[in-house]
Formats: sequence, structure tokens, C-alpha cells
Amino acid sequence: MPLADPFSAVTHAAPYDYYRRLAEGPPLRFEASLDCWLATGAVGVQAVLEHPACRVRPPGQAVPLNLAGTPCGAIFAELVRMNEGERHAVPKQVLARALGQVDLARLHERVMQFAGDRVPACAAQLNEAIFELPLFAMADLLGFAPAQWPALAAWTRDFVACLSPLSNGEQLAGAQRAADALLHGFSALLREADALPGSLLHDIVTGADAVGWQASGGVLANLVGLLSQTCDATAGLLGNAVVALRAQPELSAQLRAAPRLWLAMLREVSRHDPAIHNTRRYTADAVELLGVRIPAGQTIIVVLASAGQAESGFGHGRHACPGQSIAQSIATACLQAWAGALEGMPLAWRYLPSLNARIPVFAQGDNA
Ligand code: HEM
Repeated sequence: MPLADPFSAVTHAAPYDYYRRLAEGPPLRFEASLDCWLATGAVGVQAVLEHPACRVRPPGQAVPLNLAGTPCGAIFAELVRMNEGERHAVPKQVLARALGQVDLARLHERVMQFAGDRVPACAAQLNEAIFELPLFAMADLLGFAPAQWPALAAWTRDFVACLSPLSNGEQLAGAQRAADALLHGFSALLREADALPGSLLHDIVTGADAVGWQASGGVLANLVGLLSQTCDATAGLLGNAVVALRAQPELSAQLRAAPRLWLAMLREVSRHDPAIHNTRRYTADAVELLGVRIPAGQTIIVVLASAGQAESGFGHGRHACPGQSIAQSIATACLQAWAGALEGMPLAWRYLPSLNARIPVFAQGDNA
């Protein structure tokens, strides 16, 4: 089936020729069939992500209409990912600093341990594990006890449904219940936070106090945000790495013989078959970009996956991902722990429905 738009490319079996063609065209173009602009190639992607008037939300609509006045909406309104200016810069600084202080060697060792206790034995278990293990790792880092991890992971997976335009009414209702449960869980943990020096939660709360990021609702929402940002993206990285191992069967033995190469392998996966294929920006004012005038109030689909080697799959500019090293450590540890079991597992795959995230869903079988 020929690819006609950047949304169907996300879950297509082989979309990279399409992305290459996009990158060879103009870096900014209006796509009438989608009623929006496309930013493509490293030049187009970077220009939009760097421009101050290209915002993460449409002007005058901080929260999507279907979430306004709900628990999900209250969280959404505070997320660094969804704000600009001071409401973005201050929390981003706190989160980036705290995430930057995480001891990656220790994280890797911890995740090797509990991923080793949960080695998937079949495709169905692998589908669960690529979502659960990264969330367990974040819950552990934040300071939650292991008995709380499965519930947190389940709520996070329910919550992220509110971020997708493909979700139905039932999924949205589940997301609202999950939002309440997550806020409740983090409130309880925050009350105990003094007892948890050294945890990521402790570092975030201390950092928030130090810069006067007072709104505790904002801190809570962004703690939920750390789990929700981890969820689909890290599952995608792990799943796409499993696919890469299938495509190059000799790789697995090489990596098992030289485990320090896992990180390099995951970096390659992030470049060549990334988890997040696009993101959106909205023009607050008319902008002149690369010689093209885009009026105010326009939507721009930033086709990250067309930026090729120049980009890493973790975004660019002020909203770039602060969780990159953590995600790579988690994924490295999981793959190291699972590589032996994965080698003999018969796997076929397609992709979960999504407009921006490429996450394989495995079944027993063979794609070849
Ligand atoms: C493989 C895994 C991951 C991928 C591919 C990924 C990718 C991205 C991308 C592309 C963005 C930028 C979105 C945009 O500009 O519109 C982003 C933002 C973000 N990511 Fe990640 N991410 C991953 C894992 C994580 C993890 C584990 C965390 C938490 C520790 C995290 C936290 C965040 C946050 C808080 C933002 C918002 C930053 C801002 O708006 O300033 N991500 N991520």
C-alpha cells in the first residue's frame, strides 16, 4: 500500500523510503489534505522546534476540549510537555536537573535484576513486559515500593489514553479514573518523601522548592507526566530493538558476547527505527521560517522520523526529551536480561494503532 501521509507511516511495516522522500522535498510545505503544514528533514524539523512562536498547544486552548474540567485535564494543564514560557522553563529545569543526577550505572543494575526476574517466555508476555518494565524502573527510581509497581503501571497505561485522539469513550473514562489514582498515589508518596532521600522524587521536590516552583499540583502532575512520558516511548524503543534483532540474527550473539555494545545498538535503533515519529506545533503568530510565511493559528506536523541521522528520536530544542539517558539505560538492561530468551522465541509483529508512536505488538509466528 503506498504511503500518503505521515500518520499512516507511523504504523506502516516499511515507512522509511516515504520519510526519505519527504526529507528530499521542501522542509516546510502546506498539506491541503490534512489542513496542516509538514516540517520535514533535519532542517525543517529543527527550524520549527527552535522557533519561539511554534508552540506546543493551539493558541487559547491549553487543554483539549474533551479533557477540560476533568482530572486528566488538570494534569494535562500543568505538564512541561504542554506548556511554554515560565510554566515550561521552571519545571523543565527542575526535572532535567533531577533526571540528570540519576545514577545510570545503579539504574542499569537494578533493572537487570528485576527484568531478570521477569523474563518473557512468549509473545504475549513480551507485549506486557515492554510496557511494564520501564514503568517499574521509573516507579522504583521515584521511590515507590515494588508492591505498588503493577498498579502504577496499569494506571499509567490507562492514563495515556487521554493523550491519544484515537481513544474511545470507555478508554477516556478509564483514563480519568487512572488520573485520580495516580494523583492519589503520588500525594501519598510525597507525604513520605522526607523519608526517601536519594530517590528521584526527593530530588525533584527539593529542586522545586529551591527555584520557587511552588504549585504542588504542578509538581504532582509532572510526576505523573514522568510515568506517562516513559510509557509508550520506552515500550516503542524496546519493541523496535527486538524487531532489529530479528532483522539481523547475528547481532544478538555479538551483543551477548560484548554487552557494552547494547547502548550503541539502542542508539542506532533510536535513529533508524525510532519510537516517536512526529510531534505537533501550533503557530501563535505569523512566522517566517526558512523563507516560508506561515500564518498564525496553523498546525505543523513535525515529522521527526524524516530528520534521518541528524536526529536521535528524542526531539530537539527547548522541549527535547530530558529522559533520553534513563530510557536508554532501562532498555539496555531489559534487552541484556532478555536476549537469551528472545533468541528462540517465534515472533511476528504489527504495530499498535497510533498517530505518532511506533510500538510493535508481537504474536507467535514469523514475519519473514
Ligand atoms: C525511548 C524513550 C523515549 C523517547 C523516544 C522519548 C521522546 C521524546 C520526544 C520526541 C520528546 C519531545 C516532544 C516534543 O518536542 O513535542 C520528549 C519529551 C519529553 N520526554 Fe521523552 N522520550 C522517551 C523517554 C522518556 C522518559 C523515560 C522520560 C522520563 C524520565 C521522558 C520524559 C520526557 C519529558 C518530561 C518530556 C517533555 C519535555 C519538554 O516538553 O520540555 N521521556 N520525549
